[in-house]
Amino acid sequence: MVTAFLPALLSMLLHMSVAQDPYFVYPEVFNDTERDAFYYGTFPEDFQWSTATSSYQIEGAWDADGKGVNIWDTFSHETGNIVNDDNGDVACDSYNKYETDVSLISNMGVKYYRFSLSWSRLLPNGTIDNPSEAGLQYYNNLIDALLENGITPQVTLYHWDLPQDIEDMGGFLFDGFPELFNNYSKYCFEQFGDRVQFWITFNEPWVITVLGYGEGRFAPGINGLEDERVYISAHNLLLAHALSYQTYNTSFRGTQEGVIGITLNCDHFEPYDPSNETSVDAADRGFQFMLGWFASPIFKTGDYPEVMREKVDFKSAAVGLNHYYKDRDIISWQDESWPTSGSEWLRPVPWGLRNLLNKIKNEYGDDIPIYITENGISTEDTDNLDDTTRVQYYQSYINEVLKAVRLDNVNVKCYTAWSLMDNFEWASGYSERFGLHYVDFSDPARPRTPKDSATEYARIVADNGFLEPKVSTENPETTPDSADRPASAAIY
Ligand SMILES: *[C@@H]1O[C@H](CO)[C@@H](O)[C@H](O)[C@H]1NC(C)=O
Ligand SMILES: *[C@@H]1O[C@H](CO)[C@@H](O)[C@H](O)[C@H]1NC(C)=O
Ligand SMILES: *[C@@H]1O[C@H](CO)[C@@H](O)[C@H](O)[C@H]1NC(C)=O
Ligand SMILES: *[C@@H]1O[C@H](CO)[C@@H](O)[C@H](O)[C@H]1NC(C)=O
Ligand SMILES: *[C@@H]1O[C@H](CO)[C@@H](O)[C@H](O)[C@H]1NC(C)=O
Repeated sequence: MVTAFLPALLSMLLHMSVAQDPYFVYPEVFNDTERDAFYYGTFPEDFQWSTATSSYQIEGAWDADGKGVNIWDTFSHETGNIVNDDNGDVACDSYNKYETDVSLISNMGVKYYRFSLSWSRLLPNGTIDNPSEAGLQYYNNLIDALLENGITPQVTLYHWDLPQDIEDMGGFLFDGFPELFNNYSKYCFEQFGDRVQFWITFNEPWVITVLGYGEGRFAPGINGLEDERVYISAHNLLLAHALSYQTYNTSFRGTQEGVIGITLNCDHFEPYDPSNETSVDAADRGFQFMLGWFASPIFKTGDYPEVMREKVDFKSAAVGLNHYYKDRDIISWQDESWPTSGSEWLRPVPWGLRNLLNKIKNEYGDDIPIYITENGISTEDTDNLDDTTRVQYYQSYINEVLKAVRLDNVNVKCYTAWSLMDNFEWASGYSERFGLHYVDFSDPARPRTPKDSATEYARIVADNGFLEPKVSTENPETTPDSADRPASAAIY
């Protein structure tokens, strides 16, 4: 009760200080003074600002210099899987333009860069007996260029591009998968660990398993929703993460002094009726079946969430069948009044992030360090550099992270804008753009141009948050000038 009261008290103080003129990023939708009023302040000194990409989405050069085929090469080359039958054969051509990418990051004043290693570029067949010299050289060059520019690499080992040869053995359904991944990760620690001190084993296990081995909308396109394959792929992924973690902890951490973790994605579920227990429990199940599924074994009990075990075990016994979505026993939807984006599944609801961060803190321990490794919004395919929707998104979301840090004492250490530039958006191809930089995919040189959101992100990074709007000294009567406010429409 005390812990529930404290944030409420602090937020009352907050609203007293801005009570005269609360500012809302989305005034027509999110205008609750308690919840939505903009909060001015800065992040802790050592807060990390990052931006991110992933190998298949940007590199191109899909068959250059001995790179092996991966499941996204295969999946995107089959007609009908991707919007417009797009593929990542060239993408942003970052295999050849990585130096430009480094300068984009540098120009924004961002000091961290999260990218992923392409397993089949380093190990064309997935196994350590056949490494590629050219692949190794590419990542050595990228890492060195980042360090020369004062940018710290944050490296994801697996961002969805499994070597095809491993998929042919069964991929994540193969019980030898954890060993294969462990060997690959050890190879990466050996090759890059002298310069890389931040490792992520897997990006978004929920997507890998539910979309890849369940719905089949993502590579490898397996339709396993009506059976237990979603659960088996998740189980092997967790074992692979654990092995890799142990390898790093035992053999590398002592000398390389880095950290290693996992990137988990989660929607935020609010109860439809907060006073109804059935409704509150359903929202919690949404969380447990999405985040808890992976976070509970790693950060809590070493086992799946109790409610997930109950539901899945009960249905296995009762009907002999599992179905990930039906096992959850929830009905969920998005409110039609919320703003939209370029992606059907995505609507900005800034206060949801603050609530989710608090939920994570309450579930997994007060001090658990949280790195936000991706956050961003899509727009439809357009060459508009004046991307107001993205500017508003970053202002409001980062502001909610600031509230979580300053008002709720959530231990958030890093924020990462997704994405550095427009890129291959998986099954949506190039029809949706998430970039801070615009990429012209019709030009063979793939030129990159900063959007307004890149300028705004650079400003937030430079200020380490949001400075109080200045009142004009010449004319103190005027309310804070719109030019000093993070009001998207007025800044540029
Ligand atoms: C405040 O938000 C609600 C929706 O939450 C909306 O119906 C209402 O029109 C908004 N008020 C203003 C003044 O825009
Ligand atoms: C290794 O992968 C390459 C490219 O994907 C393929 O051509 C070759 O046959 C594979 N070699 C073995 C030994 O599987
Ligand atoms: C993993 O590496 C070990 C040691 O290098 C090797 O003996 C083993 O065969 C490898 N496993 C696989 C599945 O490639
Ligand atoms: C990591 O290694 C240290 C010893 O170097 C050990 O104390 C610790 O328990 C290990 N962590 C885990 C989670 O296994
Ligand atoms: C709580 O919500 C459930 C599901 O909508 C409903 O069946 C039940 O009647 C509600 N209980 C109360 C006390 O309103």
